[in-house]
Amino acid sequence: MCGIVGYIGNKEAYPILIKGLQRMEYRGYDSAGVALLQSKEIKVFKCSGKVADLEAHCQGKDISGKSGIAHTRWATHGEPTDVNAHPHFSSDRKIALIHNGIIENHIALRQALIKEGYMFESETDTEVLIHLIEDIHKKENIDLVESVRLALTQVVGTYGIIVLSVDDPNTLIVARKGSPVIIGFGKDEYYVASDASALVEYTKKVVYLNDEEIAVLSKGNDLVVKNIHNETVPHSIQKLQMTLSQIEKGGYEHFMLKEIYEQPTSIAESMRGRLNLKKEIVALGGITEYEDKLLSARRFIIVACGTSYHAGLVAEHLFEDLVRIPVEVEYASEFRYRNPIIYEDDVVIAISQSGETADTLAAVELAKKKGALVLGICNVVGSSIARATHAGSYTHAGFEIGVASTKAFTSQVTVLTLMALSLAMRKEKIQRKQYTQMIAALEDLPNKVKYVLDSVNATVQEVAIYMKDFSNVLYLGRNYNYPVALEGALKLKEISYIHAEGYPAAEMKHGPIALIDENMPVVVIATKKGTYKKIVSNIEEVKARKGKIISIVTEGDVDVKNLSDFVIEIPETEEMLVPIIASIPLQLLAYYVAVMCGKNVDKPRNLAKSVTVE
Ligand code: F6R
Repeated sequence: MCGIVGYIGNKEAYPILIKGLQRMEYRGYDSAGVALLQSKEIKVFKCSGKVADLEAHCQGKDISGKSGIAHTRWATHGEPTDVNAHPHFSSDRKIALIHNGIIENHIALRQALIKEGYMFESETDTEVLIHLIEDIHKKENIDLVESVRLALTQVVGTYGIIVLSVDDPNTLIVARKGSPVIIGFGKDEYYVASDASALVEYTKKVVYLNDEEIAVLSKGNDLVVKNIHNETVPHSIQKLQMTLSQIEKGGYEHFMLKEIYEQPTSIAESMRGRLNLKKEIVALGGITEYEDKLLSARRFIIVACGTSYHAGLVAEHLFEDLVRIPVEVEYASEFRYRNPIIYEDDVVIAISQSGETADTLAAVELAKKKGALVLGICNVVGSSIARATHAGSYTHAGFEIGVASTKAFTSQVTVLTLMALSLAMRKEKIQRKQYTQMIAALEDLPNKVKYVLDSVNATVQEVAIYMKDFSNVLYLGRNYNYPVALEGALKLKEISYIHAEGYPAAEMKHGPIALIDENMPVVVIATKKGTYKKIVSNIEEVKARKGKIISIVTEGDVDVKNLSDFVIEIPETEEMLVPIIASIPLQLLAYYVAVMCGKNVDKPRNLAKSVTVE
């Protein structure tokens, strides 16, 4: 959620901070602010709206300063107003703070501080934290770093914070629990942000702060990292695996479109070094060490949220079909509060693009506590979930900036397919012939995806023109294509704000069929193989009630085509790989509908890319 960025060094801080906010704006974009240290005071500029609004707000003002902090917000406590925007100040305006996360005990702390005479300007939980730090600093007469540490011992919740103080102009204080913080090293300077994208332009040398660690960034001095118990802890400098071109639009109008079109490459990257057609080998280095444990697992439990949950639903089919191990797929947010039964011989697989989703991270911690082996399928290298899990495989899809997940989904399914195949072979649950066919189909997958991208565009745009004026759309699929229906509906609703539901096609007659009339477009994923014949009957049922059918079919299809108002053809492939290919036109459809409706596709309202609050 919120993006935080800080700089201390010899350069002008403002351009670095604003660029950092622009790069992280996908984390939250309802208000933004910046604090700059200028001789004996901290200047704060903040306003509701996007980073561009903040820039306009700063126009013509004195924005000098060699150190500063900045924030782009996704509101949790208090509306997205100017006052609620970060940074927040101490009462004497000598200390400023930005925060990503949630202080859960903010009400109790606020009441105690009000009794002490503190006045609150905003409704945020963050302002409680700055006054708490201030209170300890004044009363205990101790230095600011120690005041921050003591304040954090009283806090229940999550935080990634940066503190700037007039009295110690050469220092930034940084801390994290549950919200990511990355520190970048320059020459006599430090950069800090919640996201590597804000740093990559300036440095590749970084330290990932761990939970309950506090770092002191002093200009010209070595980094000092302590834990919440005031013990100095070692830190290791790592090389950032990211390039600038990965986080720029590269000529596309939107990041989402760029990321959709990157899929032939991102899928190939997910398979690189893991698939060898000649040697007929599938191997995922990250989990080899644990393969025996995986093979003897009683059960796989997949935990994830949103689109990653849909990838998990596809994996349920893959693992059960290929490996014959029972699978449960759970919303991480439900799992973590359900006191679930987890056996020590269960394997829990957490799927997350960002690797920062708070609920998924909590589910990982819970599963670890209960003794299960926990694997991560993450995209962001070095992310919290990647580091919290025992082992795992990165998806290597490249940086995903559009809030609506596209290439991350297809890469997740690709990696999960590789995992299922490799385990199936080791467990001798798959015939050599099927194994070889699957490897060949996977090898050809990037080409097929490219072919779809090249061939469906015009038809998809025609469908979008038709669909954009409706208020509701149903998406239907069965078997492997049921998660595709859920994912197609999620894509449409999150970026176009048109209400859309994904449903297992045969469930229609148990309720939703009541909704069908000539004003209800129904997108049906009806590819050949599997339950094709069954879904043809389901389409007939919709048609009989005047529903409009938009179908995704296998090239050469006749039966579904005859029943459809619009047809989008995709090439034939192994049934297990259809979710990857079939999701591409649905991503494009959501994209074009949203663009035609004039919506901000990369930054849809109320959403943020990385959901670090529960
Ligand atoms: C939808 C979308 C979200 C994410 C969800 C989980 O397009 O992007 O539903 O899939 O917030 O995020 P990660 O995968 O980062 O854990």
